[in-house]
Amino acid sequence: MERRKIIIDTDPGQDDAAAIMLAFGSPDELEVLGLCAVAGNVPLSFTSRNLRIVCELCGRSDTKVYEGALKPLNRPQVTAEHVHGRTGLDGAELPEPTMAAQAQNAIDFIIETLRREPAGTVTLCTLGPLTNIATAFARAPDIAGRAKELVMMGGGFFEGGNITPAAEFNIYVDPDAAKAVFASGIPIVMMPLDVTHQLLTTKARVAKIAAIGTRPAQVLVEWLAFFERFDIEKYGSDGGPLHDPSVIAYLLKPELFSGRDCNVEIETGSELTVGMTVVDWWRVSGRQPNAKVMRHVDADGFFDLLTERVARL
Ligand code: BDR
Ligand code: CA
Repeated sequence: MERRKIIIDTDPGQDDAAAIMLAFGSPDELEVLGLCAVAGNVPLSFTSRNLRIVCELCGRSDTKVYEGALKPLNRPQVTAEHVHGRTGLDGAELPEPTMAAQAQNAIDFIIETLRREPAGTVTLCTLGPLTNIATAFARAPDIAGRAKELVMMGGGFFEGGNITPAAEFNIYVDPDAAKAVFASGIPIVMMPLDVTHQLLTTKARVAKIAAIGTRPAQVLVEWLAFFERFDIEKYGSDGGPLHDPSVIAYLLKPELFSGRDCNVEIETGSELTVGMTVVDWWRVSGRQPNAKVMRHVDADGFFDLLTERVARL
């Protein structure tokens, strides 16, 4: 397999951290060109800090971390400390990072990288609100056509929303950015709540990660314990949904997932349903498909992959 060049745009978040660990544990398949922080689960100062904590924990402080948007395009900031804790990475005791973020802004990095690398070779992986990506596309309309594809965690359809009855958090925080990205023409693979709600951190699955016995694995288990408490209470399930690593797992083993090409539009007007991903699953609208929307995942296969790759860190 040829190594795939990726940029991860993210708002860590314990599940974002798990996704980055999965990528770092897969160096034969993935080349991480850079990690871009965006405001989301917590403010940008924390998402940047958290990215650098993850890099240092995994022995990857050579990775370049860039800071992007401080807030959504047109709306007040919404955060999720109620899920992720005050820092976004509550749950484990870790030292403050010593590595610094790059001086270059994340949006400039995304534009420059997509223009420099051969067309069709860079994959954008988004694990948070789409503010950085939409801003880059607005400033440099040529780059959407140069990316290989964009694989995102975001949205929900059959499962509804998680921050409102209609909207998933990443899309809800910046629906205007999401609308622009879905209209940009970039090939999109979407991992909605319909998929991620199947990826439960059950006791048996977490026990396998704990059995690895390394420091990164131990910290991941502590993060997951913190992160899942909110969802266990909310859904009454055995474990919480591990959303963001689905994006990286798709790059490594697309056969774990199934879905179909659909049209997806983003609601930006209605107060009641703002941030809703309107998925034309049954193709009744006549609108052209603009995303591959995933619906099912082999959850045990996913956790086997995550465990195997975290063990390599
Ligand atoms: C998404 O929102 C965040 O809280 C998680 O990190 C994930 O990206 C799930 O709705
Ligand atoms: Ca996230």
